[in-house]
Amino acid sequence: MTELNKVVIVGLGLIGGSLAAALKQSGACQKVIGVARREETCEQAMAMGIVDEAVTGVEQIAGQLGRNDIIFIAVPTLTVAKILNELKACVGPEVIITDGASVKGSVLIDVQSIYGKYPANFVLGHPIAGSEQSGVEASNPDLYHNHRVILTPVPENNADAVKAVRFMWELVGAEVLEMGVQDHDIVLAATSHLPHVIAFSLVDTLAHDSQNENIFRYAAGGFKDFTRIASSDAIMWRDIMLANKKSVLDAIDLFSSNLGRLRAAIEEENATEITGVFTRAKFARDRFTKMLEHSAYLKTMQNSEEKNIVYTVAPGGTVKGRIRVPGDKSISHRSIMLGSLAEGTTNIKGFLEGEDALATLQAFRDMGVVIEGPDNGSVTVHGVGLNGLQKPTGPLYVGNSGTSMRLLSGILAGQSFDSELTGDISLSKRPMNRVAKPLGEMGAIIGTAEEGRPPLKIHGGANLKGIQYDMPMASAQVKSCLLLAGLYAQGETRVTEPAPTRDHTERMLQGFGYGVERQGNAVSVKPGGKLTGTDIDIPADISSATFYMVAAAISPGSDITLTHVGVNPTRIGVINILKLMGANLSLQNEREVGGEPVADIRVQYAPLKGIQVPEDQVPLAIDEFPALLIAAACAEGKTVVTGAEELRVKETDRIQAMADGLANLGIECESTPDGIIVTGGQLTGGKVESFHDHRIAMSFTIAGLRATGAIEVNNCANVSTSFPNFVELAKKVGISLDVKSY
Ligand code: S3P
Repeated sequence: MTELNKVVIVGLGLIGGSLAAALKQSGACQKVIGVARREETCEQAMAMGIVDEAVTGVEQIAGQLGRNDIIFIAVPTLTVAKILNELKACVGPEVIITDGASVKGSVLIDVQSIYGKYPANFVLGHPIAGSEQSGVEASNPDLYHNHRVILTPVPENNADAVKAVRFMWELVGAEVLEMGVQDHDIVLAATSHLPHVIAFSLVDTLAHDSQNENIFRYAAGGFKDFTRIASSDAIMWRDIMLANKKSVLDAIDLFSSNLGRLRAAIEEENATEITGVFTRAKFARDRFTKMLEHSAYLKTMQNSEEKNIVYTVAPGGTVKGRIRVPGDKSISHRSIMLGSLAEGTTNIKGFLEGEDALATLQAFRDMGVVIEGPDNGSVTVHGVGLNGLQKPTGPLYVGNSGTSMRLLSGILAGQSFDSELTGDISLSKRPMNRVAKPLGEMGAIIGTAEEGRPPLKIHGGANLKGIQYDMPMASAQVKSCLLLAGLYAQGETRVTEPAPTRDHTERMLQGFGYGVERQGNAVSVKPGGKLTGTDIDIPADISSATFYMVAAAISPGSDITLTHVGVNPTRIGVINILKLMGANLSLQNEREVGGEPVADIRVQYAPLKGIQVPEDQVPLAIDEFPALLIAAACAEGKTVVTGAEELRVKETDRIQAMADGLANLGIECESTPDGIIVTGGQLTGGKVESFHDHRIAMSFTIAGLRATGAIEVNNCANVSTSFPNFVELAKKVGISLDVKSY
């Protein structure tokens, strides 16, 4: 479809007039006809040039209308029935009719009662746009540009009619979404109708009932922002409230009860409760603002169609400088989890403000924990104790984060309430039986989707019993999950690992005063202890530092120092492997901070050689392989990785993603079921796909330093899951990087 036939707009107020103006401006509409009660409005619309013809009654132009012509009803909600009666009398069923009323349930009832059988060409719709101005003179051709229009098709609808209405809105720059009639009215009652009720009522209260006549004199920006919508069309909004009575009343009741609780907290000077409400609200509002900047909120909330962020790296260059990368992701997750389960307050410094760790933070807020921040890496968690979590009101959404889902499943298995864990598209494909099965052996009842994929439905109230579990794979997430469940189980929970994996959970439990026993390759916890709030200083993430370590290791002339990096022995596989490859790498200023070893890491360029990566280093460098394979591509000879099948079930299949990308950049490589063989060579320029995996995206970015042409990396939005300022730091150290968003 590239053109529209005739469009008739009934009602030339702001909503109708703006659509008319936009359609005229598009030039893709055969004829725009306006219908307005008053002669003057018709004349004004003609004078403004927003319609080709204007009449005072639809019957005057009904004779010109036929198949594929569209009538848009843009009158207040409670006037729609009157217009429907007029249309029924003079317009045939072949003409498409749509509307813009803010409530869909009432229009649906009107259509059904007036027409009897629902007309297949009647498409219910609602443009989410407006302004506090009204009347034809306020018509604005850009009103719908980048705004959402919700269509609420019904089963009786003709698909072509829905398509035509969608096309009309897209033509004027709107983004069209579809949802059910009832869902629409509930959502709009909460996010639009309730705010209008509150704004009208607040201004009326102050203006009318306040004791102080001069009250508005002292009102500043906050009042103005908050009450802008109280200047909207009063009658139109009255009708909306009446038309959507049930959902609006539900929204008001919920709000009133929460307001009552807040009132009580203020009366009782309960600072923690007030902090809880305000911090949750601030976080939600900040997130909403961010969503609006990036895309339509309905889409981003489900994280399904984020914008495509493309990195383009110019070839060559060196990296130099002294930088501190953000806080460790694994430790950040655990600091929130254990801080929440502790008694008393936990003060965290160096928290990673990336999407993954924020997902964990949000999950605990959703379970009633009051958390202040993050503010420049500082977070304060008001712990609720091991049994103080509250049932969340809906599923806990943890985005891209496997660590959140797996560790949380252990904690949730021990709660008295039911819960559900959901994630984004990538996480929804990752294996969860590795935690669901052993948790099941402990007595937990956990439902998964097919083949053990998320969502996880965890039944509360199970009596967990401690088990002895020999992990079939070397996984810190599985180990941590079971130890956390073990806090709630009867008897000892003991986990053995086939090879050492990161031990942050064990260290941090001890930091919170909870006993953990290690014997050889086994770790165990017993129930009955408690965690006591503490201070946590999170070191910089060695996994993030890796990208700059490899960057310096592959580009001649480079010299970089990464400060305050966590060098826990269970995380330094990357250092060991790079050294084996001949990297000039040294640790300086080694010290211990809050139970974790920390150092500054200096890397100066030196030629690298290919190696057989020792299998015992694989779990200690599991997240670093994408970057290490870039080092392998720049090394002389073959690098062989084996025993790394776990890489196939990370955020993406990292073996395949790296093999595909390296091949695109002219590097010979061969993937095997449990690893990869890379033959060092000359990286060329080219396009690579990150498959939405943050570490794949960052690895190919640093590859640009040794490439002969520009490298374009596709789908890099998820870099923000682990390394929100990667681009800024990359530019700072000398990588020539350009970011575009599509
Ligand atoms: C993590 C453990 C590792 C790692 C992940 C973080 C953790 O996963 O890949 O990024 O924080 O415990 P596995 O336990 O699946 O190996």
